[in-house]
Amino acid sequence: MTYSKKFVAALLLAPAALAQAPLYGQCGGQGWTGPTTCVSGSVCVYSNDWYSQCLPGTGTTTATTTTRTTTASSAATTTGSSSTSCQAAAHGFASLNGGTTGGNGGTVVVVNNWADLKKYATASGKYVIKVSGKIVATTTGEEIKVTNDKTIVGIGSTGEIYGGGFGLTNVKNIIIRNLKIGNTYDGDWEGKTHDWDGIQSDTSSNIWVDHCIFERGADGLIDLRLDSNYITISHVTFRDHNKVLGIGWTENVITQATIHHCYFQNVGQRNPSADNLKYAHMYNNYLNNATSYGHYSRGYTNMRVENCYFEKVRNPLQRDDTAVLVASGNTYVSCTGSTAANSGTAFNPSSFYSYTLDSTANVPSIVKSEAQPKSSICPS
Ligand SMILES: *[C@@H]1O[C@H](CO)[C@@H](O)[C@H](O)[C@H]1NC(C)=O
Repeated sequence: MTYSKKFVAALLLAPAALAQAPLYGQCGGQGWTGPTTCVSGSVCVYSNDWYSQCLPGTGTTTATTTTRTTTASSAATTTGSSSTSCQAAAHGFASLNGGTTGGNGGTVVVVNNWADLKKYATASGKYVIKVSGKIVATTTGEEIKVTNDKTIVGIGSTGEIYGGGFGLTNVKNIIIRNLKIGNTYDGDWEGKTHDWDGIQSDTSSNIWVDHCIFERGADGLIDLRLDSNYITISHVTFRDHNKVLGIGWTENVITQATIHHCYFQNVGQRNPSADNLKYAHMYNNYLNNATSYGHYSRGYTNMRVENCYFEKVRNPLQRDDTAVLVASGNTYVSCTGSTAANSGTAFNPSSFYSYTLDSTANVPSIVKSEAQPKSSICPS
């Protein structure tokens, strides 16, 4: 038997090919032992301490962090005007449909007041808008109408939008990261006086919200409505609020959302309420003191829940008769009310994207430390 020249060439090339991660492959993160460089035409982009991914583009990146204890400066850096950690791209369902890259590759601006934030968030074209310190809304409850291809990211751990929020209407490719958002609370716990949300999305797609704190709103902390789709909410704290995270307000069953490593703390209802979602993937969330209900699979939702930690939650898991709910690996501590049994056949998240489950016992400590703005996300 003889080998063709082509086959031998392929064999000779193989080691080099194996040394590089493929497009959209993992290229770094805590415990990652695989390749840390990407195939030509893609760059390694830091997503979080556990995951970096090869995304389309050119440029020079350095290796990403491989341990959780490394400092911000060892996160991926790239040549250019902004570190890659400020310009990470989304994982989960937001990584589908062309991906969610926000303003990556566009103009980088730093803002420290409401007028400038509004100016760039509503401008056309790609922007990475870095928020410096606390910005107070000039009109309480105003939701800035963000346009396509924007990243709004806090610098360090002190970026804050106080007394206002963001409205996404018929837009796509939006990243909101590393910010505290809220404090529009008007004294009405039922949220019926004002429709002031932290983020309201209507018919928008490819949305990634990451490493944020949402607190004390006047209506929903996040309302995702009217067929908004390809959504990932990761490492987010929702606290001191009644109507937390509502997804739905539609007859269509198309919305796909990943919600993981989120902290629901001292909350009432909608943690989340997931109504008519095609796919709702909930994993490694920590709920502590929810007075109404926890993860709720409503209408025709197909929900998979994995390794979540429910503590002092009334009605941790709820399901409508028409909905699918398949939960595994959860822990329940001092919970009350009822917990819906599994019913139906849930979708398999791994067939859409890769993800790593943390063990449930570690979820409270990981989530408490990660679900907030971090100085390492956008160091400057
Ligand atoms: C639990 O959360 C509710 C808000 O839903 C709050 O009013 C209450 O004070 C919290 N309880 C504790 C013990 O923090």
